[in-house]
Amino acid sequence: MEYLTFALGKGRLANRTLELFEEIGITCEEMKDKDTRKLIFVNEDLKLRFFLAKGPDVPTYVEYGAADIGVVGKDTILEEDRKCYEVLDLKFGKCRMCVCGPESSEELLKHHEMIRVATKYPRIAKDYFYNRKHQTVDIIKLNGSIELAPIVGLSEVIVDIVETGSTLKENGLKILEEICPLSARMIVNQVSMKMEAERINKLIRDIKEKL
Ligand code: PRP
Repeated sequence: MEYLTFALGKGRLANRTLELFEEIGITCEEMKDKDTRKLIFVNEDLKLRFFLAKGPDVPTYVEYGAADIGVVGKDTILEEDRKCYEVLDLKFGKCRMCVCGPESSEELLKHHEMIRVATKYPRIAKDYFYNRKHQTVDIIKLNGSIELAPIVGLSEVIVDIVETGSTLKENGLKILEEICPLSARMIVNQVSMKMEAERINKLIRDIKEKL
């Protein structure tokens, strides 16, 4: 039997995924050692391998078949736009992709003014403004702490993830428009889905029963 390889987005999502896997009898003891410097973990009995990767790299590993299966946020799937099958909504890591800004930017949005949009997600922002709203905007790519942009005058609005809303609130910003709901998803390599259909479909069935 070949190994089935999983790429998990580092951080909270990976921890939730491992908890879910434990519920269906898939464990990886090696991975629980917080001090380990190992990058890849094996469950020999079940012929499974797991590795942690930066979220945006997960769809890349899956598209190229370096991982058969990936777990990553819907935001990353949309932004990376890789060729793989999205097979399951894991229902955790729920949040929303939104256009946010100060109250004063509401009018600018309404009147389709030429505004600057700061975001870690330029593809999502471009698709939303150009294809859905038919509004020409200037998209500025940032790598984090996006909420800073309207505060210091880099942009009029941001496109970012909102979970509890507290980052917005503490910085005097609000949700102006909602783009889409987000959550953790399971993605599968297109060839693996055919070659390992039986094992992968069983995994999907088992997980669905726990959701
Ligand atoms: C994310 C997101 C928001 C915040 C939203 O940032 O970009 O800033 O969480 O969460 P809240 O609605 O619960 O306040 P993250 O912490 O991932 O870091 P980043 O700013 O570096 O992207």
